[in-house]
Parts: sequence; C-alpha cells; structure tokens
Amino acid sequence: MMKLHLRIATCLAAWAAASVYAQSPAERFVDSLMAQMSWEEKIGQLNLPSVGFDVTGPMLSTGVEEKMKQGLVGGVFNTFTPVAVRKLQDFALEHHPHHIPLLFGYDVIHGHRTILPIPLGQAASWNLHLIELGANMAAREAAADGLNWTFSPMVDIARDPRWGRVSEGAGEDPWLGSRIAEAMVKGYQMPQMQSHYSLGYPQSIMACVKHFALYGGAEAGRDYNTVDMSPYRMENDYFPPYKAAVQAGVGTAMTSFNDVNGMPATCNSFLLKDVLRKEWGFDGMVVTDYTAINELMFHGMGNGAEVAKRALLAGAEMDMVGELYLTHGDSLRKVHPEVGVAIESACRNILLAKFRLGLFEDPYRAWKEADSEVIMSAEHKELAKVSAMESMVLLKNENRVLPLNSAQKIAFIGPQVKRRRDMIGNWSGAGDWTQSRSLWDAVESWDNVSYALGCNLVQDAAMMDQLNPHGAQLSLDERSSEALIKEAVKLAKKADVVVLALGEPYGMSGEAASRSSLTLHDQQQALLEAMAATGKPVVLVLMNGRPLCLSEADGSCNAILEAWFPGTMGGDAIAALLSGEQSPSGHLTMTFPRNEGQIPIYYNHRNTGRPFDAQQKYTSKYLDVSNRPLYAFGHGLSYADYSLSNLVCERVGSELHVSYDLTRSYEGYGGPASQVTQLYLHDVNSNMTRPVLELKGFDKRDLMPGQTQTIHLVVSRNEWGYFNSDRHWVMEPGEFEVSVGFSSDQRPLQTTVVLD
Ligand code: GLC
Repeated sequence: MMKLHLRIATCLAAWAAASVYAQSPAERFVDSLMAQMSWEEKIGQLNLPSVGFDVTGPMLSTGVEEKMKQGLVGGVFNTFTPVAVRKLQDFALEHHPHHIPLLFGYDVIHGHRTILPIPLGQAASWNLHLIELGANMAAREAAADGLNWTFSPMVDIARDPRWGRVSEGAGEDPWLGSRIAEAMVKGYQMPQMQSHYSLGYPQSIMACVKHFALYGGAEAGRDYNTVDMSPYRMENDYFPPYKAAVQAGVGTAMTSFNDVNGMPATCNSFLLKDVLRKEWGFDGMVVTDYTAINELMFHGMGNGAEVAKRALLAGAEMDMVGELYLTHGDSLRKVHPEVGVAIESACRNILLAKFRLGLFEDPYRAWKEADSEVIMSAEHKELAKVSAMESMVLLKNENRVLPLNSAQKIAFIGPQVKRRRDMIGNWSGAGDWTQSRSLWDAVESWDNVSYALGCNLVQDAAMMDQLNPHGAQLSLDERSSEALIKEAVKLAKKADVVVLALGEPYGMSGEAASRSSLTLHDQQQALLEAMAATGKPVVLVLMNGRPLCLSEADGSCNAILEAWFPGTMGGDAIAALLSGEQSPSGHLTMTFPRNEGQIPIYYNHRNTGRPFDAQQKYTSKYLDVSNRPLYAFGHGLSYADYSLSNLVCERVGSELHVSYDLTRSYEGYGGPASQVTQLYLHDVNSNMTRPVLELKGFDKRDLMPGQTQTIHLVVSRNEWGYFNSDRHWVMEPGEFEVSVGFSSDQRPLQTTVVLD
C-alpha cells in the first residue's frame, strides 16, 4: 500500500512541479499523468462496464476483474456500498500500472435509498428549493454508499405520454425544465463547495445530464424510436434544459439512443461537438448510454470498428458496457491518427472528471459518516414525505368531497391501497420497496376504515408475464373479478365515502414501457364504475408514472388526486392530504389528454392559420373530441380558495417587472395551503409563428386565510427572444400579451405590453 501512496504522491509532485504553466492544476496533473500512460491504459479509461447489484440494460459486462488487472477499466456502474466499492477500488488501484482510481456511477434518479417521488412528480411541486434538497439528499446517501457519479438529471422534454420515460423527466415546458435541471445539478454537485476543478465535499456526486439529445421526441411515443425535428423546435423547445444543466456546471453528459434527423446522437458531432462543446462551452465528459455505440450497428452505421470510429470522432468519450473502444481503439488509432487524438482527448476529460471529484487524493471518497446516520435517516424520510405531499396534484374536487373528516366511514378500495412495490416507482435505484409506506400502512389506524381489493392491479396474463420478470410483484387474487367487485360494492355501500386507489404497476412506466392505450387498464375502470354506481362519493387516488387518459374516470368520480409513484413515504403523504392535514399544492408539468388521439398535445403549441372556432367548419379541430386537454399544463386544485388582482407590468432597464396580488379567502379550508401562480407571455406578432403561451415565471407561497400578498416576478430580456429557423437568436420588438393565473388555461389577469 505504501508503494501506492508513493506513486500517487509522485504524480502529485509532478503536478506541483509543473505548476508554472498557464494550465489549471487539474490540467497540469492530468497531462503529466497521461505522459506516463500507455495507449492501452488510455483506451482503458474509456471503458465503463456494469458490475454489481443492478441490471439496467440488455447485456451484462464480463471479465471485468481481468480487464482491471490490465488497467482497462475507467469506471464501473451498478456497484455500491462502501464495502463493495472499497474492494473494487482497492483491486483497481493495486493492479493499475499508474494506480488510477475508478469512477463509481449509478442511476440515482429520484433518491438513492430514501426514495423521492418520481421526477415528473417532483416537478409538479413547482418547488425548486425542495427539488434541490431532494437531489442533495440523494447525493449524500449515494456518497455514503460509495458512489461518486449519478446518471441524473434526466431532462428530456416530452410531449407524448405514450413514452414511458416521461416519468423520469420534468414534463413539457422548456423554461421550467431548465430551472429544474439547474436545481438538480446544484443539489448533486453542491456548487457552494465546487470550483471548476473541485466538486465539493465527499458528500457531493458528479451529475450527468441526459439523454443528449431529444430522446423525448421519439416518434409515436415508442421508446428508442426515430427523432426528426426542425432546428427551430430543437432550439426553442427541447435544447434549453440540457443547456441549463451545462451552464449549471454539470460534470458529465450522456448520449441518447435515438437518431436525430438521420444521425444517431451517439455519433452525432453536430450535437456532441458543435452544440454541446463549441456553442454551450461544456468542458465535462461525455458518456454513452448503455451499449449505444454497439447499437449504431443496428442503426445501420457500419460494423463494430466503423461505429467505434464514428462515435470516437463525434465526441462520445466513455463507452458504457459495449467495449468497442477496448476492442478496436488501438487498431483504429494506428490507421487513423485522428482516432488517436480523439482517444487522448476522451481520456483527458475522464481523468479531469476524476480529478474534479478528488479521487486522486481520496479514491474512496465514501463519506465517513456511518450509513445509519445518513441512509434512510428520519430527516431524509421527512424530506421524502414533504416532497411527496408537494408533488401530488388535486385534479378534481367536486362539491369539496376532499378533505375527508374523521367522522366519516371510509372504504379504502383498490389494488394500490396495500401495494408497496409501486410506491418507489421505476428507476428506484437502491431503494428498498419493502421499506416503503403503502396507503394502508398510513390509514389502517384511522377510525371507521375498511378495505377491499376490488380488482387485480393487472389482470392480463401477457402483461404480467412482461412485468414480473423485472420485479413487478404482480399476482392474481384467487377470487374472480366479479367476486372482487361484488365484495367492494358491499363494503362501499356501508361506507360514507370510497377512496379508490388505482393506477399503474411501476413497470408500466419508465424505460422500454411505452403504451398505446393510456386509460385505466384491465378491471380498474369497471371497478370505478361499480363504485360510482353505489351513489357514494368516490375519491380516486392514482399511482402512475405518466399522464393517463382519464375522461371516463373523470366522469365516474367526485375527486381525483394524482399521487404519481410517490416514494418511500408515499402512503403517509397521501393520507396527510386526504385528511386535510395539508392541502394539495401540486400543479401539472405535463398535459393530460382526453384520449390518445390528441397526442402530441401540449400547452405551448402554435396557433395555426385556422385556430379552432366553434362557429366555423373549416378550423383546426377533431370531429369527435375537443382540442382542449382533460387537464392542462399548470393545472392543480387546492382546498383553499384564492383570487388574483392588480396586475402591474413595467419595464425596468432591460427587464420586465410584473407584480400582482394573491389573496387567500377566509371561507372553507383553514389548514396549511400553498398556491402556484404562473406568468405567461405571448408574442402577438413575430417573424415566425410563436407559441400561444410561454411560461416565463412562477411563484409558490403559503398564505393564511384572508391574507393578501403582492408577488413580484422579473422577466429578463432574453426571455422574450427566440431562435429562428437558422438557429440564430433574435429579439423582435413588439406587443406581448402578459397573463397570470393558476394554470395555463386559467389566467384571470391579462394585459399587453410593448417590449423591444
Ligand atoms: C439505461 C438508460 C439510462 C441509464 C443507463 C445506465 O439504458 O437509458 O438512462 O442511465 O442505462 O443504467
């Protein structure tokens, strides 16, 4: 071990001695180290195999220890716990010719062991500070578990809920998605402690913005499918969150599986070099998605050697699992010197990332606090509960059937009343679903409650066969569907109110989980209708990973609470909202369609030359359904009542200052409630067709009953410009409509301003 530290000390000394040039300390250190490395070692840094406890892709790495012995591994992912990390790191340091430490990556997507709501749920909280705290908590638990890199935030804009990975992102809006991307990068990397080449204390982990790029634009909402998109839409609607993560200092970026306008992202130099590095100034490291280089062969881009060359020259630096750089890198560089340049550049960025993480000074970096103090701590569980409560969206509350009261006899019915597995949703990393709190865990101690299964979460055998091999924990009750519903009806008739918990098993959302039908599946709608037929008030609680098509459900129930996959403390969070301990405050960040035929449907659409007019035949519409969604972007009800007034807009320097009054009325609910007010702009006349609305600001705050507060929002000048079809940024003076409201389709305050 002494030899090891002596060697590291030698490298550090070399770095110190070379400290006379203009380079940064990190660059000096890395360049001095690379000067000592063989080509084999340099290529080895580009190799990222999967080792350990989780399987997150179609093939598994083999012979990893043997490759480590030859210094042919730059990092691993899917390994955690200090014991496992130390073992692998020790092995790697001992055997690497220059004792270069490994990166340890993992999909810490919405928490590490204490699981938060899925990102689409957290986004619905519209609470950037809470989202940052959540990422920070995840980082501390992941670091305590030996990890130093997460493949998060996923910031792919998505307008198509058929795509199962909408669960992992922040929804459809580029401005809000950008703010959330910034918050998550800050939460993971703790910028208060990071400089350009130092990623903060050991509690921080390096973040990874993904999937670059435009993965959410897959045709037909089918995962991994083709993306074809105009530069105009790319720049204005899909690029902003990636760019925001880069500007927030994200340490790495991950290439996406899809092709973009005919060129797969993983070998797309327009994306990886022109945009990411030259235009946005990204100076981190680019990792591919799982075997994405190998999959270039399926894209039809050549054989193994050819696709390895394409990816290297395009700027894909670390090869996740595919090992094509390992196989072909050396022979390619001998024939193509430019490949050698690309290999060295990639190796340098990977080593700089390790330096930034402090791995050369402390390869273990696992934060010294004992797991028990950090992982699944009471503080973290409380944060998870708060995050879950703020993420949930009250979609409907007819006749104020919510909140419930303790005198009521409540029948809790449905497959999601007792299931724990789905609480932590998809991409739940190291989360232990058996530790999560179901709805029943939280309410069974209430007075006057009863329970019935009502229906199986999944009835269809073929669907069960798809999901159970991946841990869905689905089974069929021994009773028939009819018997289950009959029992539920009998119970409902004895109750004052029915709480019906339905939704998706976690495996029906997430990766490789696109759906063509988004209604409540199998027996769920039948159960809902049977409950409605009893004449009792029905409160539908949904646990799912995407917008569903709820038109029928909406017609059969009095209230709908969208709980998403709410995380470890989800049951307690739902119970707190149902009981009125706190009012729901979530607002949708993705549109809920009436039916699949409306998709893609999103609020910031363009007007067309024949916008809908009920009095006219020849206008843009469907014959069989309204153009309007069932629930719009920004929608979310509260138990409290609010009003808006006194909108004032004024130019202050180059900014637009907007102020307005929010009042919470005395009537009705008196408990804790917060409200999200949203500021939208619309460019009335422009040289290109612009969205009918664009979110440019929001505020979330608590008010006491009867209280009024004046809210001030500032819109910086670059918020009302846009990229034209040549990808040039343009600012056009003219008239802008300014509106403020509680949703994109409920904006009581409106005015017009002239902006230059
Ligand atoms: C998966 C996902 C990506 C994830 C990676 C590693 O296929 O596409 O989001 O980070 O592989 O698990």
